[in-house]
Amino acid sequence: MYINGTNSIYMGLAEGERVCLPLNMANRHGLISGASGTGKTVTMKVMTESFSDAGVPVFLCDIKGDVSGLVTPGEQTDGMEKRIDKFGLRDCFTYRSYPVTFWDVYGETGHPVRTTVSEMGPDLLARILGLTEAQQAALNVVFKIADDRGLILTDLKDLRAVIGYVNQHKADYASTYGNLATVTLNTIIRSLLPLESQGGDLFFGEPALDINDWIRTDSEGHGMINLLDCTKLSLNPVLYSTMLLWMMADLYEKLPEVGDPEKPRLVFFFDEAHMLFTDTPKVLVQRIEQVVRLIRSKGVGIYFVTQSPSDIPGIVLAQLSNRVQHALRAYTPAEQKAVRAAASTMRQNPAFNAEKRISELGVGEALISFLDEKGVPDIVRDASVICPQSLMAPASKEDIDICFAKDGMSKYDQAVDNQSAFEDLNYMSEIEAQKAALEAEKAKLEKEKAELEKKKQKEDAAAKKKTERRIAQIERQIINTGFSILRRGLLKIWKK
Ligand SMILES: Nc1ncnc2c1ncn2[C@@H]1O[C@H](COP(=O)(O)OP(=O)(O)OP(=O)(O)O)[C@@H](O)[C@H]1O
Ligand SMILES: [Mg+2]
Repeated sequence: MYINGTNSIYMGLAEGERVCLPLNMANRHGLISGASGTGKTVTMKVMTESFSDAGVPVFLCDIKGDVSGLVTPGEQTDGMEKRIDKFGLRDCFTYRSYPVTFWDVYGETGHPVRTTVSEMGPDLLARILGLTEAQQAALNVVFKIADDRGLILTDLKDLRAVIGYVNQHKADYASTYGNLATVTLNTIIRSLLPLESQGGDLFFGEPALDINDWIRTDSEGHGMINLLDCTKLSLNPVLYSTMLLWMMADLYEKLPEVGDPEKPRLVFFFDEAHMLFTDTPKVLVQRIEQVVRLIRSKGVGIYFVTQSPSDIPGIVLAQLSNRVQHALRAYTPAEQKAVRAAASTMRQNPAFNAEKRISELGVGEALISFLDEKGVPDIVRDASVICPQSLMAPASKEDIDICFAKDGMSKYDQAVDNQSAFEDLNYMSEIEAQKAALEAEKAKLEKEKAELEKKKQKEDAAAKKKTERRIAQIERQIINTGFSILRRGLLKIWKK
């Protein structure tokens, strides 16, 4: 809970003392971990409400559909009332709702989240499509050619059209980019089909999300909570994790540097974070580590939520300074190792054995280790996490609809198909077809002309011959006539 003027959020109580996260250290990232049902989602909700009250916008993923209760006031029960007293919240706790914008890649339960193929880039797209290194290299060339030719890659049909174009003209590009095999390009085209059938194509298009629309406050200065419905999306772990990685990368690229702000500009919760690292190529893990490391100075805090810290690669884990560790089971040797590792990353508290305590924690209890406001890790505290002010259960459809109608984000609801590579290439092939038809007609006419000339030459030659024959005939007749006159003259002379 954010208590005005404290510059920190109150997360839990340990031995009668408040455990708080200083807002100026909230961009140093964090981890909420624990076995199933131990209280991770509730902790994420408590943090979300607190950030919102402190004027910090939040982005979070709803994997199980159990986070939407943020739009509904919590239920007053005996248990809640006891907790309010236990945590000393009597003066500041109210059962209340929070400002939420609902998002959904499929556009069914929230405003669609879209990006363009070119914004996603060939590397992340290759991961979604499950391409091999050679196919990824070819995809990079396709993007490069599209860029050189000014072809805009917005949606998947643009990509398909440009791959088709490259295939047709690959001989022209061979000297610049090397040989591109038709079979490779065809495989990339085929790999688009499963993505489309899973509805992944809805993610590529316009209007594309302007990341600044996630960084809003409501009229009372509460940070807007952006809730991405991931119930369907998370069934496709590669698309889910790559998409969220794109979001982080996009935030990193588009936001200006702010150094160490008094409070974060945005806090991002990444639930079921293990999906991001399962079967992920090393280069992408490095990229995640890089984005996580650098995004801090843009004022963005990233909190991974997962069952065990061992789900997160060491290089990324090392960047997560604020830890909330709920209970972990420690039955198998692998689980015991994970518990030992989780305990060892926290600054030890002489009052208890963290490794032993992790497996004894009850629901809603956690070992908490935050940075203090100077950035020094505090000793780990054995705490009970406070309760959220909004509803812990999912919200009703009516409450969600009310929120949906007034969040001002309806500009994303209607997809728009702007002119891009698909239309440009279609136009170009139409023009080329027209040109080819005109050239064919011209060639036909020229052939006809030549034939006519030939025919005319033949006819002229025949006419000339005929005329010449006639002239010769006439000349012969003239001569004959001359002879007749002469003969007649001679006869006259002779008769005399
Ligand atoms: N801080 C808390 N205050 C009150 N009740 C809590 C608290 N934390 C957890 N609970 C109770 O425990 C239940 C399970 O908690 P939660 O859903 O947060 O577990 P989880 O670790 O997210 O589980 P999963 O891994 O299955 O998602 C909640 O529905 C709530 O009843
Ligand atoms: Mg949960």
